[in-house]
Amino acid sequence: MATLGIDFGTSNTAAGVLAAGRPHLITVEPGRKTLPTSVFFDYDRKVTTYGSVANAALIDGREGRFMRALKSVLGTPLMRERRQIAYARLTLLEVVAQFLQMIRERAEAETGQTYDVALSGRPVRFHSLDPVRNAQAEVDLREAYLIAGYKDVSFMYEPEAAALASGPLEAGALGLIVDIGGGTSDFSIFERQGDRTRIIASHGVRVGGTDFDRAISITEVMPLLGRGAEVRNAIGDGRHTAPNAIFNDLATWQKIPFVYTPENRRMAEDFAKLGIDPVPFARLESVLDMELGHDIAFAVEAGKIQINKPDISDAGIDLRVIERNLWARLTKAAMAAVLADHAAQIRQCAIETLAMADLAPDRISKIVFVGGSSLLHVIEDEMTALFPHAALERAEAFTAVADGLAIAAARDLPL
Ligand SMILES: Nc1ncnc2c1ncn2[C@@H]1O[C@H](COP(=O)(O)OP(=O)(O)OP(=O)(O)O)[C@@H](O)[C@H]1O
Ligand SMILES: [Mg+2]
Repeated sequence: MATLGIDFGTSNTAAGVLAAGRPHLITVEPGRKTLPTSVFFDYDRKVTTYGSVANAALIDGREGRFMRALKSVLGTPLMRERRQIAYARLTLLEVVAQFLQMIRERAEAETGQTYDVALSGRPVRFHSLDPVRNAQAEVDLREAYLIAGYKDVSFMYEPEAAALASGPLEAGALGLIVDIGGGTSDFSIFERQGDRTRIIASHGVRVGGTDFDRAISITEVMPLLGRGAEVRNAIGDGRHTAPNAIFNDLATWQKIPFVYTPENRRMAEDFAKLGIDPVPFARLESVLDMELGHDIAFAVEAGKIQINKPDISDAGIDLRVIERNLWARLTKAAMAAVLADHAAQIRQCAIETLAMADLAPDRISKIVFVGGSSLLHVIEDEMTALFPHAALERAEAFTAVADGLAIAAARDLPL
């Protein structure tokens, strides 16, 4: 029975095994060790594609259904609702299972091994505020692995896996993994005893890059589609503000596939007629009509990454799929302001992790940054303010968790 280590991420997925004593990551896409956790159901060809191929199908405007951030749905009732997705009636649980099966097939094709057991990463808390949902999320993920044909699955906290794969740490010194991904932020305090890694405390919060995208989209993009704008009442001469729900859903990666309902289209049509300023609502109408929600989300994500670069102070969010020359402006200051609450939540979670281990911040000698969103300066600033004496290690942001799972998968027991 061979075990495959799998980091099923909100945004990116990687898988690995131990080979000659070192983590070996599967080439999950030609030339790449990670692939976007994206799925595209192609209407015309009646095939399902994954990763970069799925992203490209969306960007190319192929007819079909695109999904990303499925991990965020684990634990919620939406996971088990059976609905028509393109050419098949499926639950999202089955979609996740198909994705995990594709990973297994690619690993088996590359290594010639059969992987009937999975060692899967999981965030410390899928859902921070709801313990029932948090527990259900692992139940759902386990079931997805079983549907995918794995005979058994065990779980390991993602930051604990990253600790296994991190660089050297002096005896007696303490390290802190700061793993800020697409969906969650996770922390583990650890030490080394010989070549063993001992975990002292782990903690997490459901905040990540997809929430940053959402916040940026709501404040910087959605007003261009009518968020906060006024609409005349259909009857009488009063007016009201357009309801927020449609804008919130359009800004939320995992909700976008479900916004293109006849009701929402009708509402946008009415707003375009009754809006005091009809222009933004006409844009909303065409976004729903042409199913551009994911295109907007990708544009927001690209703008976020662009403005984070050191030599750039003003970036645009490219909305030209909606309208000629339409851009939303994004400055460094605006992004810092929009993300301030999220950054504070992440800081609070780091403080709570210390409290769980009864440690003062100056006991941490090294911070290891993991996860794509740890590349954001807002995050680094929070962490360096909290741990001014710690050395900073930049691990392989996108593969450290999978490396650790590959190491742990080769042992009888995780850790
Ligand atoms: N250069 C960058 N600067 C800032 N953010 C980035 C950068 N590159 C990627 N990101 C963001 O990082 C996130 C993805 O990171 P990562 O792949 O580590 O997440 P994940 O492992 O899929 O998610 P999770 O662990 O939360 O389930 C996305 O939100 C993406 O927008
Ligand atoms: Mg991750």
